[in-house]
Amino acid sequence: MNQYFKLFLNNKPVSNNKLADVLEASWKSPSNIALVKYWGKKPGQLPGNPSLSMTLSKAVTYTWVKAVPYSHTERSRSVKGILSINDDSNHPFIPKLQKLYDQLSAEIPRLNGIDLVVKTENSFPHSTGIASSASGISAFSFCLLDILASLYGVDINQEDFYRAVSYASRLGSGSACRSVYGGFTIWGKTEAVNETSDLEAIPVNSIIHPELMDLQDAILVVSSEPKSLASSLGHKRMEVHPFARGRYQQAHENMQEIVNALHTGNLETIALIAENEALSLHALLMTSGEDGLLMKPGTLEIIQKIRKARKNGLPVFFTIDAGPNVHMLYPKTYSSIIEEFTRNELLAFCESNQVIFDHCGEGPVPIHTSLL
Ligand code: PMV
Repeated sequence: MNQYFKLFLNNKPVSNNKLADVLEASWKSPSNIALVKYWGKKPGQLPGNPSLSMTLSKAVTYTWVKAVPYSHTERSRSVKGILSINDDSNHPFIPKLQKLYDQLSAEIPRLNGIDLVVKTENSFPHSTGIASSASGISAFSFCLLDILASLYGVDINQEDFYRAVSYASRLGSGSACRSVYGGFTIWGKTEAVNETSDLEAIPVNSIIHPELMDLQDAILVVSSEPKSLASSLGHKRMEVHPFARGRYQQAHENMQEIVNALHTGNLETIALIAENEALSLHALLMTSGEDGLLMKPGTLEIIQKIRKARKNGLPVFFTIDAGPNVHMLYPKTYSSIIEEFTRNELLAFCESNQVIFDHCGEGPVPIHTSLL
């Protein structure tokens, strides 16, 4: 049993009045972009290697969860937990949340006493192909543990609450555990930073150069088509991938080097490692099966333009997740030059001219309006 979930067990019994209440919680949680990529896992939803990411600000998911406690006489009915998302009992995100609910209720049995109605919205348009699982899963985990804490009168301090949410989010989607904190976070044990863990992400802002805390991220939407390869299948393929061992070693070395560069603010080194990480991820993808070729011609055009701009003196670099869209990163002081560069040279390769200008963000916050 994880130490944070224990806090949800050791508390006073809930009163009948409270069970009759309908409880709600609502959170806004951001997406994140990894500079050292998580790709491949060990049993128990543990990472094959440590990863490091920057939490975004504008690419967020808003989630409202209503808990409907029911009495034990009703327990025999075939209700599973997640009743609906956005009033749709067949919403495609239900299996993902249901799986997380099942895993959590195995660790926190009193979760079995409530059903959940969920409403969720992304700030970014559906048709951008931007992954919403990190923001969606983390927002849902915040709501769920928030509800449990108030329903059962759990006495938990903020640090332990966030750690419990990161642990819970990891069970739903690995990268989601990093979205629980603002700024830069690491998930996975690494010698580069003390107190890192495979079980939860930790914030590492205290070791980051202050000028990087407002790093910008222009998300260049090359294609909004759904991915041909689900990340769960991609992770699985790493179990038999001939490059897996070398990859895990490379990630550990890159982590050490990028942590030093993030500390000193050495953008040149950060750029080289982040780009090497993105292209290594795609090399693994491409050599894992025919459906692993996720980059598009526009992706390569943009990569080359960014590298050329850097050669010509612009402090700019790219990273890419498991898809065709390019994240272009740069210091805030260069925003207007980069926006002009984007308009003149990159927009032509973006679907319907779509670019989302985002930046390093402060992390999840509760929402104080009720939508349910
Ligand atoms: O969190 P998952 O299981 O969807 O994995 C996502 C992994 C990458 O986005 C490709 C890389 C990362 O570390 O975010």
